[in-house]
Amino acid sequence: MAGTRGMDVSELSPDQARAEMARLAKEIFHHDILYYQHDSPLISDADYDALRARYRALETRFPDQAPTLSPEKRVGVGVDAAKGFGKVPHLVPMLSLDNAFDESDVRDFAARLRRALGLGPDASLRYMAEPKIDGLAITLRYQHGRLIQGATRGDGQEGEDVTANLRTVVDIPHNLTPPFPDILDVRGEVYIRRDDFAAFNERQMAEGKPLFANPRNAAAGSLRQLDSAVTAQRPLRFLAYALGDVSQPLAARQSDLRLRLKEMGFTLNEPSRLCEGEDDLLAYQQEMERLRPALPFDIDGVVYKLDDLAGQEKAGSVSRAPRWAIAHKFAAQKALTRLRQVTFQVGRTGVVTPVAELEPVTVGGVVVSRATLHNRDEMARLDIHEGDMLRLQRAGDVIPQILEALPDQRIPGAQPVIFAAHCPECGATLARLDGEVATRCPDRLGCPAQLLEGLRHFVSRDALDIEGLGERSLREFYDKGWLASAADIFRLESRNQNADPPLAKWDGWGEKSAANLFAAIAARLTVPLARFLFALGLPQIGEVTARLLARHFISWARLRQSIERTDDSPDSPSRLELLRIEGIGPIMAEAIIGFFRETHNRAVLDDLESVMTIEDEVPVQAPASSPLSGKRLVFTGEMTAMTRPEAKAAAEALGAKVSDSVSAKTDMLIAGESAGSKLTKAQALGVKVLNEEEWLAVLSIAQTA
Ligand code: IVH
Repeated sequence: MAGTRGMDVSELSPDQARAEMARLAKEIFHHDILYYQHDSPLISDADYDALRARYRALETRFPDQAPTLSPEKRVGVGVDAAKGFGKVPHLVPMLSLDNAFDESDVRDFAARLRRALGLGPDASLRYMAEPKIDGLAITLRYQHGRLIQGATRGDGQEGEDVTANLRTVVDIPHNLTPPFPDILDVRGEVYIRRDDFAAFNERQMAEGKPLFANPRNAAAGSLRQLDSAVTAQRPLRFLAYALGDVSQPLAARQSDLRLRLKEMGFTLNEPSRLCEGEDDLLAYQQEMERLRPALPFDIDGVVYKLDDLAGQEKAGSVSRAPRWAIAHKFAAQKALTRLRQVTFQVGRTGVVTPVAELEPVTVGGVVVSRATLHNRDEMARLDIHEGDMLRLQRAGDVIPQILEALPDQRIPGAQPVIFAAHCPECGATLARLDGEVATRCPDRLGCPAQLLEGLRHFVSRDALDIEGLGERSLREFYDKGWLASAADIFRLESRNQNADPPLAKWDGWGEKSAANLFAAIAARLTVPLARFLFALGLPQIGEVTARLLARHFISWARLRQSIERTDDSPDSPSRLELLRIEGIGPIMAEAIIGFFRETHNRAVLDDLESVMTIEDEVPVQAPASSPLSGKRLVFTGEMTAMTRPEAKAAAEALGAKVSDSVSAKTDMLIAGESAGSKLTKAQALGVKVLNEEEWLAVLSIAQTA
């Protein structure tokens, strides 16, 4: 069927057209992903336009032969914006909410609402009261129960297409539980739980990456990643609370609507309460303020919504907020305190972070004495002077955030705080690279802070997990001259044998703790590949990516050999091999290749190889509960949403056995476009046949099971 591409569309047979369209659709989809999600196109705009023009000509002439996932129907990635995410118009505008700050605001809201509904001042209204989650509003479009698009709120009229990223959010269903209307827009909040946020920031710190000020910022940053593999590693969640465009009404009340959303597979924002009249609302708000510290997520208030949906319609909206709902905000947890000094901390990758050391102050029940100032730009924005009075807020309840410095309370003659010019650890002149927010210590090899942070990561719990080797003891060994690289950790015991005094006699150490430490180190002489990779602390490589690499390459020798073979050519086979691993985008791939290219890193690896044994990755046992486990599958024909190897890998990861030929033992044949003899054989044998769309549905059910 190859070679039809140069032919005039009018000369093609329907079969030829179908095959070419399937091929083109896949190619276009592939380039869309490279362009929109990875920000790294492989072909010129003109070549891309030519592909689309050819496809359009084919689909115009052969509409019946179009693949299910036609690039002309926009799915997945946005395809009409010049750069970044595509734009999505909201068929029903995404409104914001008016705020109430006290009881009288709430009573005024109720009075206005009664008037809008033509009711007397004594009429009692029923409301649904819900927590107001501090995250990001998004809208999800479902067609026949399948998630086809997701977008941010944007300006309320038009948002950004972040479908690929939203597909990675754990509690966003890809397929709804029936019954559902043909078209359904579900709205809600993407957010990060407080505990997940704390763990995430810890990981960022361990990996030398910038910290986020609060869960909301982290959620926003994660949703706007161009590489959805990055988003997939962020602990995003979703709570549903409203509808947009729907093909048929779901309920007559907000409370019933919530039940329907739940039945279809969504998670709701709880605790909610059906309230009769305003007194009930105020009691709910007080109770929620009490509960607030115990909730798993940040809330900045509660939302009251008229329960009766017909009433909502009748009340309508003014400017950009509905008359039938209001947000009752909590008083913010803020405090004032003085700056003692600004210190500068150096991370594993050399990033220097300014930290405000404060007069201890209680904010929302927690004593705060330090707060990150993030980076040079943030320091400039705050225009901090020595000894300034600072206003801070505990957002996210984990990391306090400095909102502003108060110039009118400034100490006369106080000087602006200047960002360090030299590394506080090694004295090197700090540098800021073009286009980077971070200021770095350039002395990658000689800076003790970078080495020690790297070692701290190397032995940390999710890496080598060596107990008893904390920050302090690493520093002690370093100061003693026993530690100059990771492999030296395994030489500590032999160094100690000739030492005078030996470790057991050092301050804070004894025979037992020294022996325990050496035993803990010896126990890690052999490590699984994934742990080893994570421990190396490659830029961009967290635990998830380390596992992906390990599963793909199986052995350390093969991984190292393959990556070190990579040359500069964009289609060097080993570069392409990396890029083919699902979850690894071009940015990560280059970071990995770059790491293995550095002479110093290679010497560190040689040294590690000489002392450690790195175990091959053991193929994962698929969960016994997977609906696909043990099933025998055969793929045939052309698929549009994923390549055949990708589909095969996804099926195998869920415990399916994939084979090339159909037999009576085959459980399912997945037939893409232009399937041939295998399809005929499967039909003859009575084997279950799925088209691509059905396969994607089965896959997403199995993945979430
Ligand atoms: S209802 C017209 N319900 O608050 C209906 N919004 O300040 C508008 N939000 O953009 C949304 N929790 O991002 C609604 N339970 C909740 C909410 C909620 C948080 C956010 C949402 C909205 C913003 C308005």
